[in-house]
Amino acid sequence: MIVIIGSVNMDLVLRVPRMPLPGETLAGDRFMTIPGGKGANQAVACARLAAPGTRVAMVACVGDDAFGGQMRQSITACGIDDRYIDEVAGEATGIASIMVDANAQNSIVIAAGANGRLDVERIERARALIEQASIVLLQLEVPMATVIHSIELAHALGKTVVLNPAPAQALPRALLQKIDYLILNEIEAAMLAEEQSEDIPMLARKLHDLGARNVVVTLGEKGVYGSFADGQQRHLPARKVQAVDTTAAGDTFIGGFIGAIAQGRDQFEAIAYAQAAAALSVTRVGAQTSIPTRDEVVL
Ligand code: RIB
Repeated sequence: MIVIIGSVNMDLVLRVPRMPLPGETLAGDRFMTIPGGKGANQAVACARLAAPGTRVAMVACVGDDAFGGQMRQSITACGIDDRYIDEVAGEATGIASIMVDANAQNSIVIAAGANGRLDVERIERARALIEQASIVLLQLEVPMATVIHSIELAHALGKTVVLNPAPAQALPRALLQKIDYLILNEIEAAMLAEEQSEDIPMLARKLHDLGARNVVVTLGEKGVYGSFADGQQRHLPARKVQAVDTTAAGDTFIGGFIGAIAQGRDQFEAIAYAQAAAALSVTRVGAQTSIPTRDEVVL
């Protein structure tokens, strides 16, 4: 079973011809509410892209508003176990305000809402679920104390711990020693490695030195660099596609990669599968609306 501990956001998406300048009012094209949140997106991606029969569960918080119900529905529709998604009374569900421009680039501001209420006590209440997991996957859209506690718990229980340290923020150095797979973009890699460099192999080496066993750096249209505990390293170029919206491309990649690893597939095969899924996602609009199913992914 794959357990995702993370955020749930309703994405408030506005298509714009270009990003507005400070102080400028701009006419947008179209407004949409689309289920998102890095945690929920990665849970949905795992559920859609892992081998049939793979169990996926999520530990999260939503508010007691309309978005909370809609988010739960989007999550359970994929067969994800929602028993540990708590509804917090008097709290708003997390939201992300997203602008997507004509070049498919996005700009995102999040308001944590109920995600900020996913505390250590709730993780302890989900301990029985975490004990059943083989893989525990986290991001950084819930409180840092919760992330640290969850990683320490999952590591102590002998689980495969996967961290997507997004949005980028500093982490306690010792935490990297408890991470089996660190999956991150080049900005996050430079931040955690404390090196302002675009030399990805060097950043990956530094992250290994800090304790991360396996490092996968996503480079957008430049592809993916994988550096693994068995000493294998390789850059895999990206597929060329006509992108309309890159929101959740990274989340799709992570779900595809973890789904394939859960099935015991080779790590570079897992990257290729995840890249194919992510390439498909950028040709579609939105976060969870863009994540393909296993049957749609053509290698
Ligand atoms: O990774 C994409 C996600 O980041 C969006 O769905 C948004 O909710 C933000 O959390």
